[in-house]
Amino acid sequence: MDAPALAHPGPILTWERQPAALLARHERGLTRIDAVAPDILRVRFSPGSALQPPRAWGSLPDLPATELGLSGDDEALHLFVERLAARLDRTSGALTFATPGGSEFARDLAPPGWREVAIEETALAQGPDAELPPGAARTGVFLRKRLAPDEGCFGLGQRPGRLDRRHRRFTNWTVDISSPGHCRGEENMYQAHPVLLAVRPRLAWGLFLHSTWYSTFDVGAGDSDVLTLFTLGGELDYYLFAGPTPAAVVEQLTRVTGRPALPPLWALGYHQSRWGYASDAEVRAVARTFRERDIPLDAIHLDIDYMDGFRVFTWHPQRFAAPAETVAALHAEGIRAVAIVDPGVKKDLTSGYPVADAGLRGGHFVRGPDGEPFSGWVWPGESLFPDFCRADTRRWWGEQQAALLDAGVDGIWCDMNEPAIVDRPIGTEGERARPIPLAARQGEAGEALHVETHNLYGTLMARAAAEGLARRRPQRRPWVLTRAGYTGVQRWAASWMGDNRSSWEDLETSLPQLASMGLAGSAHVGVDIGGFYGDCFAELFARWIEVGTFYPFMRNHTQCGSRPQEPWAFGPQVEALARAAIRLRYRLLPYLYTLAHLAHRRGEPLLRPLLYDFPDAAHLHPIEDQLMVGPQLMIAPVYRPGVRRRLVELPPATWYDLRTGARLAKRDALIAEAPPGALPIFVRGGAILTLGNVRRSTMEPLTELTIEAYPDPQAPGEWTLIEDAGEGLDYQHGGLAETHLAIASLRDGAALSIAARSGAYQPPPRRLILRLHLPEAPAGLRLDGRTSDAWRWRAAERAAEIALADDGAAHRIEVIP
Ligand code: GLC
Repeated sequence: MDAPALAHPGPILTWERQPAALLARHERGLTRIDAVAPDILRVRFSPGSALQPPRAWGSLPDLPATELGLSGDDEALHLFVERLAARLDRTSGALTFATPGGSEFARDLAPPGWREVAIEETALAQGPDAELPPGAARTGVFLRKRLAPDEGCFGLGQRPGRLDRRHRRFTNWTVDISSPGHCRGEENMYQAHPVLLAVRPRLAWGLFLHSTWYSTFDVGAGDSDVLTLFTLGGELDYYLFAGPTPAAVVEQLTRVTGRPALPPLWALGYHQSRWGYASDAEVRAVARTFRERDIPLDAIHLDIDYMDGFRVFTWHPQRFAAPAETVAALHAEGIRAVAIVDPGVKKDLTSGYPVADAGLRGGHFVRGPDGEPFSGWVWPGESLFPDFCRADTRRWWGEQQAALLDAGVDGIWCDMNEPAIVDRPIGTEGERARPIPLAARQGEAGEALHVETHNLYGTLMARAAAEGLARRRPQRRPWVLTRAGYTGVQRWAASWMGDNRSSWEDLETSLPQLASMGLAGSAHVGVDIGGFYGDCFAELFARWIEVGTFYPFMRNHTQCGSRPQEPWAFGPQVEALARAAIRLRYRLLPYLYTLAHLAHRRGEPLLRPLLYDFPDAAHLHPIEDQLMVGPQLMIAPVYRPGVRRRLVELPPATWYDLRTGARLAKRDALIAEAPPGALPIFVRGGAILTLGNVRRSTMEPLTELTIEAYPDPQAPGEWTLIEDAGEGLDYQHGGLAETHLAIASLRDGAALSIAARSGAYQPPPRRLILRLHLPEAPAGLRLDGRTSDAWRWRAAERAAEIALADDGAAHRIEVIP
């Protein structure tokens, strides 16, 4: 059967220049193109006579407009910003984009088209009588763009398919995945990221479909060379990013959708969690065991067990009778407490449960189309759901956190916020999802339908949590973890990928999954180390924790009833490997924390695919089982049983082996030895890696900073170490310490220069260890121009080392050949 015909806008009848925008009126509908930035255009099309006004709950940061160049000829209107050009065809309304040099990309194969859509054409059918609400919700807008034959397509967030998304179809609609685990596939999960990054040799561009409605991307599935966007809501609205590199696209995307929040330093440490730490005694015992076994730990997560009958913002009167004491005991061990919060508020209106009572009185819950508060079932039984689209509801919700913050809780973990709801008590036979009705009205004056706001539910919950933390503790950095989200969620929360399985497949999947989150703007991401569903086992855990060392967010978490999954649960051998992996994480913290600052400044993901750093090496673009950790490190994880060595592609650069300190001979690939505990880690030539001493937690001071220089034979290298107090907001007002580091190439005689530290933050006193990795022991070293005899050759690491007290002054070490 042929698809129903689309209506098209027809020729442009009139057009006008507006400040930094073009407004063109077609026979039917209008196109508006805004110059958002010198490298970003925003395109909107409406079949009607006006565009939607901005939504009160819309959450993109404001950007200053930029200048738009505009000219017209008989055939087309031509638009220019500094790094991007567009051509709008007068007859058809189709758009083409081009680089300033004239290379075309993202060409519309046809102008936008629209038609009425039936619910069966979407994945939204909620039951036999489900319908799309009348009006905009039923108007689907379609857009077809050409994909170049050599374009790889990336992004689209956490879904567990391949890194390269081409030849696949995707839905953007947040759901609590019903089948356990992250089986390889394209399906939609907890987060909706309508973000595409297209990469071909020498040109990357990006597209963010700014629609929170149900939408789909067909990325060359129906037709290999066609990208088809579809959204409900009766309007097309997308941002086009000029690139020209993947890194530039991610920077542009996060300029529009917001940069990742800077986490407190502790959040980059190791987190331990389990659904089932069911009492104060159990939590204390976990903390104690970490300390007894000398395994670093920065946070313990409290799952729903701490609540009283799963009532959000309560503590269980017996099992957590004195929560402030529980949290204080953790703090005394240098461990922070993170508490889970679910949006479903138990509909308990008879026992004086203030959250339900005050929430109803304040009109804070989502109402169904009939105007009555909507209810569905979650952990606590029948529950009501806050309308996070309302600013006063977000504020009210944030205030409820006092129940946790007054006890000293440090971070908030937002769960079940797709939102996940079922149609009868959880665990009852025949249980099915019971979504909030698509026609429910949300927002200040009920201005929006749930079908429009659904994808934002998780983000707005995270925002309510973060803003509540910031209001109550203005001197501290909010730290929020979320399961659901929409592009932009990175401004308020780190994300974990939900309920994976203790399986090799899920370990493997975590690599493209987290890399794709980074490309969608979320830099602070992780999966449950060891797996959530099912029982983990020794070899899998050993492999998972060694990869987890490099997850931007490093947390071990599992389901209730599964076998113990703490680092010591698999015997002394695995415990030793896990301890070493977690210690390596702590060694890496100065580097990772600098990366967190870079993510906050320009969106740069901590963990990313090779294509991000090597965009010109097209053969590496689809690779998903080797990842970069910042620009300096490359990891090649083992994710299959029994594997002891693996193939490693070497991107075009000089590489060192982190463990041996040896420089590798130039070649395209190698077979790396990789027994458990020895995950292959490579350092890029020219890198200057900053490592800290191992600490039990980040509450202890950094007493040693090691600066490891890996000279490139041909090229110099540089890096800036960024430090601050690790907590608080002083970093926004100059409270930073930046140390610029540089190495000369080996050819020019390796030398490491440390510039004088700049900025108002003063690190605690510490020792500085400088290491230069060299092919062989040098004849000597000069420190600050004078020959030194205080250095030594560390044969095992192939490095010349010298130590001094860190006085913040400039230093230089030179090799005497
Ligand atoms: C959900 C979360 C999981 C949590 C559980 C109980 O399944 O994804 O992390 O442990 O709920 O709260």
